[in-house]
Amino acid sequence: MRFSTSLLLAAATFTSADTLQTRSAKRGLVFVPSTEHPQDNQVWVSGNSDLTWYYNYGPSASPAYSNLTQEEFEFVPMLWSPTTTFLSSVQSMIKAGTNVTHVLTYNEPDGTSSSGGSQVSPSTAATNWISQVQPLKKLGVKLGAPAVTGSPGGFTWLADFFDACASQGTNCTADFIPIHWYGNFAGLASHIGQVRATYPNTSIWITEYALNNDTLPDTQDFFNMSAEYFDRIDYIDRYSYFGSFRSDVSNVGPNVSMLTSKGLLTDIGSWYLGGAATNNIPTESTAVRGAAAFGTVLVMAVAAGFMVL
Ligand SMILES: *[C@@H]1O[C@H](CO)[C@@H](O)[C@H](O)[C@H]1NC(C)=O
Ligand SMILES: *[C@@H]1O[C@H](CO)[C@@H](O)[C@H](O)[C@H]1NC(C)=O
Ligand SMILES: *[C@@H]1O[C@H](CO)[C@@H](O)[C@H](O)[C@H]1NC(C)=O
Ligand SMILES: *[C@@H]1O[C@H](CO)[C@@H](O)[C@H](O)[C@H]1NC(C)=O
Ligand SMILES: *[C@@H]1O[C@H](CO)[C@@H](O)[C@H](O)[C@H]1NC(C)=O
Ligand SMILES: *[C@@H]1O[C@H](CO)[C@@H](O)[C@H](O)[C@H]1NC(C)=O
Ligand SMILES: *[C@@H]1O[C@H](CO)[C@@H](O)[C@H](O)[C@H]1NC(C)=O
Repeated sequence: MRFSTSLLLAAATFTSADTLQTRSAKRGLVFVPSTEHPQDNQVWVSGNSDLTWYYNYGPSASPAYSNLTQEEFEFVPMLWSPTTTFLSSVQSMIKAGTNVTHVLTYNEPDGTSSSGGSQVSPSTAATNWISQVQPLKKLGVKLGAPAVTGSPGGFTWLADFFDACASQGTNCTADFIPIHWYGNFAGLASHIGQVRATYPNTSIWITEYALNNDTLPDTQDFFNMSAEYFDRIDYIDRYSYFGSFRSDVSNVGPNVSMLTSKGLLTDIGSWYLGGAATNNIPTESTAVRGAAAFGTVLVMAVAAGFMVL
């Protein structure tokens, strides 16, 4: 899953965080930048937001956060799909003094490009990983396994990927396994258990998740249960909720969103940043755009390395 970025937005006035009970050092941002409402981009780092890290599906930090240091808001580079420039790009960042501690690789390679997947074969990904990702290990960077979808096909793809590395003579040593999940909490917990059983002793990041297209109470219950679970389980190192956009442009149902159609923080949005409920209701606008078409454009932009918003 992936978003149609250009649509995101919101001039949310940050609600002062009265309660900090939801704070978590594991929590980060799936950044879906808004060109239409650039002020929305600042919501995630305003006020008392306790988000500590972000990724934007690309290799380079976002200009929207260029006035924040890596220590203040850690950027995690991602190799979206095979390129020959990822290694040199990360090496340059490190050389310039940026503390790159982790990288993410291949967004939903088992998914189709129409749903935001990078649609890469395990063997092509393995070849590219060996040249562009594995060398970063020597620089102390922790490597994220390819971020497959939450479907059964994701397990097959990942197993084929590690096999392809071995058959090309290299042990692709992933330090953590990213998970994507859209669905209910029972399904999420079961999926995490299955990943853990398949890759014992490897830590897990949940880099996209939400209960999509459901009622607001169920979506909020899911949000709270999953956040409590991720905070409690010690092998889950980090997580990032898929919802950093306005409800009227959401491609996963309006109730998931952290911003209303007017750009105000929803309850989930405020809770995620460490604040109290806002009672702002996310609504669907009549002007819902074709998410798939925007997503595809974005996918191509990212693949070409132009993702600089
Ligand atoms: C950083 O820059 C953005 C504009 O890109 C601005 O809105 C924000 O206030 C700045 N933050 C700080 C801490 O200076
Ligand atoms: C880089 O960041 C990691 C994690 O925050 C920290 O442990 C490490 O000391 C930092 N390294 C440098 C050189 O600042
Ligand atoms: C591959 O690397 C992992 C992690 O370092 C290690 O546990 C495993 O034994 C290695 N396998 C081979 C075949 O070298
Ligand atoms: C996982 O870690 C435990 C404790 O460190 C160790 O006993 C066990 O052998 C490890 N399992 C695998 C599959 O590496
Ligand atoms: C959302 O749910 C409604 C009602 O169950 C269904 O008709 C619709 O197809 C769903 N949309 C998506 C994108 O899943
Ligand atoms: C969003 O939540 C509202 C209130 O619970 C509900 O009426 C609506 O059907 C939900 N939307 C979707 C797409 O599930
Ligand atoms: C979710 O958690 C927040 C913060 O802990 C709490 O204030 C809120 O009542 C919870 N909401 C639901 C629907 O459980």
